[in-house]
Amino acid sequence: MKFPCTFHGFEISLMGKDMSVIEEVKQRTDIAEVIGQFTKLTKAGKTYRGLCPFHTEKTPSFFVYPDQQSWHCFGACNTGGDVFSFIMKKQGIEFGEALRYLAERAGVTLPAYHEREGEKDEKERLLQINRTAAEYYHQLLKTPAAKQARDYLEERGLTAETMVKFQLGYAPDNWEVLKNYLMDKGYTEKELLQGGLINRSDTGNKTYDRFRHKIMFPICDIKGNVTGFGARVLDDSLPKYINSPQTPVFDKSGSLYGINNAAEAIRKADVAIFVEGYLDVIIPHQYGFNNVIASMGTSITERQISTVKRLTTNVALALDADAAGEEAMLRTVQYENLLNNEVKVVLLPEGKDPDEVIKEDAAVWQKLVAEAIPVVDFTIKTATAGLDLSKVKDKTVAEGKLLPVIAGINNDVRRDHYLEQLRLMTGSSYRGMQMALNKIKGGAKTGKVETETTKIVQSSLSNPVEEYLLSLLVQHPEIKDLAAELPAEYFESTENREIFLAWRNNQELELLKEQLDNSIREHLQYLVEKKIPASHLEQKYTDCSLRLREKYSRHLERKKAQVLALERETGGTDAELAKLEEQGISASATLRDVFAQRSLHQKG
Ligand code: CTP
Ligand code: MN
Repeated sequence: MKFPCTFHGFEISLMGKDMSVIEEVKQRTDIAEVIGQFTKLTKAGKTYRGLCPFHTEKTPSFFVYPDQQSWHCFGACNTGGDVFSFIMKKQGIEFGEALRYLAERAGVTLPAYHEREGEKDEKERLLQINRTAAEYYHQLLKTPAAKQARDYLEERGLTAETMVKFQLGYAPDNWEVLKNYLMDKGYTEKELLQGGLINRSDTGNKTYDRFRHKIMFPICDIKGNVTGFGARVLDDSLPKYINSPQTPVFDKSGSLYGINNAAEAIRKADVAIFVEGYLDVIIPHQYGFNNVIASMGTSITERQISTVKRLTTNVALALDADAAGEEAMLRTVQYENLLNNEVKVVLLPEGKDPDEVIKEDAAVWQKLVAEAIPVVDFTIKTATAGLDLSKVKDKTVAEGKLLPVIAGINNDVRRDHYLEQLRLMTGSSYRGMQMALNKIKGGAKTGKVETETTKIVQSSLSNPVEEYLLSLLVQHPEIKDLAAELPAEYFESTENREIFLAWRNNQELELLKEQLDNSIREHLQYLVEKKIPASHLEQKYTDCSLRLREKYSRHLERKKAQVLALERETGGTDAELAKLEEQGISASATLRDVFAQRSLHQKG
């Protein structure tokens, strides 16, 4: 069955593609049941009603529409969305994580994602190459040529056993030793390049080993696959470390050094300790502290936290003092939301890393870990250090730094706790504090807040206008400014909405693809390849956006009508009715506005 329809002279199919796994998860999910875990819902006609889980209210203005698979808060939030946006907002998680959670719940098996033909084999092959390289480097560490490397590692206090456990290795001072070894084994130059083990010379006609005269640290995933390498110089020269580049199997920001050796201990101890460096993992393990993993020098990422979350929700950060900046703290609060638990900070003595602390006295390490403090307490302590909170100027400084952190805490009890703590410290009024907090929360420009979206339509396999508009945008970043004000709520398809949100931050296609969850990449590719003639872009954009706006208003109108009818039936209070009527009227006004603009547009 096909419903052809034309748009700017082009036929667009209303039956786009097969139902996506995202759509399947949505259809198999009882939205009222999911949301019902977070707020008590009462059935009211075809809808469910409850207190809004996103803001504090006394009369319930939060509605769930099972037949439309959506929710909407007509109160302070005045926003809505689908089950994905609900979970993302409520748990403070990314789309991919929400998809995995809901898929598991609904019993939908997520495919090993949309891999290109042969991509899986290609990855397997790269892992195999890495494994072979790691074994080879490890063997080479025992050769006479590696004496300096062995001496260095011994000087750093590593035992032979530890070197075996972490499969440490040596890359000789030679341009082609690994390349020749692996090519003799039947791997191709192309594969070695792809795996980041060799580089191509600037002139382009030669390739050579990436790692030379280095101590090699194989980096593994949780299953023990070697995904990449870290490599250290043997002296004080710079750069101290080089790593594998991004490859189909390696992404530094998603990797956790030591996780293969630490997973079991993390689960058992029910706590994971994050450090920064390779040796800051290896030394604790040598001393029997096996629950230590490293983010490898960069700031901790959501993907790393997600990996750990499968083992424990207790996380402690033993990071350099200067890694604990304000911006880092804001992010850490997001990780607390993700873990649904507080994150602790292990306070290291000034200028020392875990490696040094432990070698000096392992008992001190144990004590520091036991005395780790919640990250928000730590932030309050550091942000107010040196301030005189009896002075209004310092009070403002403290609140300016800390309120954004506190506002980011999803858990109500914990947020109130810290708000009260700050209030007692500054002696501000409760009301003033709460107002300042609400202002921050309302105006916060984080990705999380932008995902407050609205999903309206029952179920649509394809949204031609949405897709047409998105295709325009991804293919023609030059019209970006036109879409500056386009609300993400207008996109009813979860995939389209996610792509639009990501595109708004980043128009570069390759980066955009990387940013998106695997489950959505294929859809992006489809949009990129959709044929759209590059003429009258502006007019096409305006047409599409008006249509989306019209549809959005219509659906919102319908929801409001449903709520209004309900209110009359159950004899809601006059004030409530008036409020809803007022909102209903404003939706009608939007709708009228749309029609007016459209007729103008058509005449012009
Ligand atoms: N790092 C990196 N590239 C660099 C510097 C650092 O990848 N050029 C990563 C490494 O994983 C390193 C971590 O960041 O282990 C922490 O860096 P740093 O504190 O500078 O080094 P240490 O781990 O203390 O190194 P070492 O103890 O070996 O001197
Ligand atoms: Mn160090």
